[in-house]
Formats: sequence, structure tokens, C-alpha cells
Amino acid sequence: MAKIDIELKAMTSELIPGLVKVENESFSKPWTKEGFEAELENDTANFTAAVYNGQAVGYIGFHAVLDEGYVANIAVLPEYRRLGIADDLLKAALERSAEMRLSFLSLEVRKSNSAAIALYKKYGFETVGERKRFYSAPVEDAYIMTRYFTY
Ligand code: COA
Repeated sequence: MAKIDIELKAMTSELIPGLVKVENESFSKPWTKEGFEAELENDTANFTAAVYNGQAVGYIGFHAVLDEGYVANIAVLPEYRRLGIADDLLKAALERSAEMRLSFLSLEVRKSNSAAIALYKKYGFETVGERKRFYSAPVEDAYIMTRYFTY
């Protein structure tokens, strides 16, 4: 449980401005309002926001196609990090994945992103490969990390 009283909510258009702020403060190539709006129309998308005092302070988004899940992103506003919010978001995505009987949930992460790598390892993701020069601004390789589900 996060150390502050957050609520997890499925993404709605009202939450999108807050999610854009989370992106802008977290990434060198942030998702835009239009990017989030497209996900509202996407049947494969599962996007969940962490809301504190009516403000979106973090989110996770993944796509499920057949029995495969792919995390698009997870991020928390800098001033709300290390409070357990990503813990809650990732746990919720894992629970949803299990409800959907996915075989795995997979993602890419910058090799230098030790905070995110520690988060994923904590929840059973394994490094299964890498993608050379996957990221730009700055150019960097990615690890592919996957959490497998058994039922
Ligand atoms: N250093 C090491 N481990 C860290 C960490 C840090 N700075 N921040 C988080 N973790 C890991 C730990 O395993 C932690 O568990 P613990 O508290 O039991 O040690 C676990 O993540 C959960 O921490 P939590 O407080 O829930 O994480 P958070 O809410 O601060 O969010 C990120 C973690 C990665 C989402 C956040 O740092 C972020 O938004 N980073 C920028 C965006 C990003 O890089 N996203 C990932 C893209 S692949």
C-alpha cells in the first residue's frame, strides 16, 4: 500500500491532462494528449491512474493481445516517488493480467534505469533479452523484461 492515500482509477478523458504532466516530468520524449486519447479508443489498452487529492500523480498502461501483455509505460510524478505508488500500480496491472489469464506481461526498460529495473525484479520480471539502440534522446539499449504467469 502506498504511504499516501491514493485511489486507482481507470483512465478517463478528465484524467488525461494530469497524465500528460506525469509524462512531461518523467520522460525526454513524453506521450502527448493525443497519444492518451487514442488509448481511450483502443480495446486492447488497460490504463490506470493513481489519483491523489483529485490529481493524477502516476499511471501504468499495458496492452493485452490474445494472451500476451505489453507494458507501454509506468511513471510517477517526481515529488511523489518512493511512496509505494508504482508498487500499487504494478500490482494492479499484475492482478488484471491474471484475471485476463495472460501468459506473460513484458516490457522494455533503459539499461541505466536502475529504479525501474529494481521495481520490475521485485515483482518477478526476468531479463529475457535486449534491444540495441531501442531508445533515443539519449540513444540507449533496452533490456526486455518479462513476468510469466502460471495458472
Ligand atoms: N532506486 C532503487 N529502487 C527503486 C527506486 C530507486 N530510486 N525507486 C523505486 N525503486 C524500486 C524498489 O524496488 C521499490 O521497492 P522498495 O521500496 O521495497 O525498495 C519499488 O521500486 C517500488 O517503489 P515505489 O515507491 O512504488 O516506486 P515509485 O512510485 O517511486 O515509482 C518509477 C518508480 C520507476 C515508476 C519512478 O521512479 C518513475 O516514474 N521513473 C521515471 C519514469 C520511468 O523511468 N518509468 C519506467 C519506464 S520503463
